[in-house]
Amino acid sequence: MIMNRRDFIKVVGLGAVTLYLSGCGAAAVDGGKKESEASAQSSVSEGKAMKIVLINSSPHSEAQSTSRYLAQRFVDGAKSAGHEIFIFDAAHEETHPCQGCDHCGMDGDCVFNDAIQTKLMPKMLEADLLVLVTPLYYYGMSAQLKIIVDRFYSRTTRLNGKKSMIMATAWNSADWTMEALKTHYETLVRYMSWQDVGQVWAIGCGTRAMVERSEFGDMAFKIGSAL
Ligand SMILES: Cc1cc2nc3c(=O)[nH]c(=O)nc-3n(C[C@H](O)[C@H](O)[C@H](O)COP(=O)(O)O)c2cc1C
Repeated sequence: MIMNRRDFIKVVGLGAVTLYLSGCGAAAVDGGKKESEASAQSSVSEGKAMKIVLINSSPHSEAQSTSRYLAQRFVDGAKSAGHEIFIFDAAHEETHPCQGCDHCGMDGDCVFNDAIQTKLMPKMLEADLLVLVTPLYYYGMSAQLKIIVDRFYSRTTRLNGKKSMIMATAWNSADWTMEALKTHYETLVRYMSWQDVGQVWAIGCGTRAMVERSEFGDMAFKIGSAL
């Protein structure tokens, strides 16, 4: 069952039967081949334990969230390969959007001494790999994640050259569902001189049951374990 742009909102309120019929099984068969994408470059870590920072950005709970499910599968994989992971919860930590005041001068302290500055930024600066995790919100990343990305501004150059990865979940399963976010992510990779090491575009995954039935959890685990 392919949904169009308007359907994702209408169907969100419907019951389990609709969710089942619209779920990841359909996405994997219909749009999955084209739109879903998972890749990991072998020996990304060259056999060394990497420092990984993973940013979750769904307001849903650990038990309900589809994107947090993918994040956990990735973490399980990465830990099995011996990597060290720091997880930041962008939806529940105290964060503030960039004010554009330029107090930081693109390499200095932000005027906000919030969790981004005190907890996340120090970990990001020393990380080898940054993993962005988001539900698809109006065909882009969540506002919770965008706040973090904009705050990269305070250390833009020092965040250059890292490895990066993205995982996103969406209700729709049309082949264009993730196009805008994919373009945005790849533009970020280019601007930040990052090395992209994996992308999981989990279309047709509007609920926890849908994502758990899908192929995307295994993709996330495999990317993590192959790092
Ligand atoms: C504010 C909002 C906007 C959304 N926008 C889209 C969208 O543009 N396309 C889509 O397919 N699904 C959209 N969805 C559905 C979510 O992406 C989907 O349910 C996702 O699995 C939620 O992930 P989470 O449980 O990790 O938060 C939207 C949901 C919300 C609440």
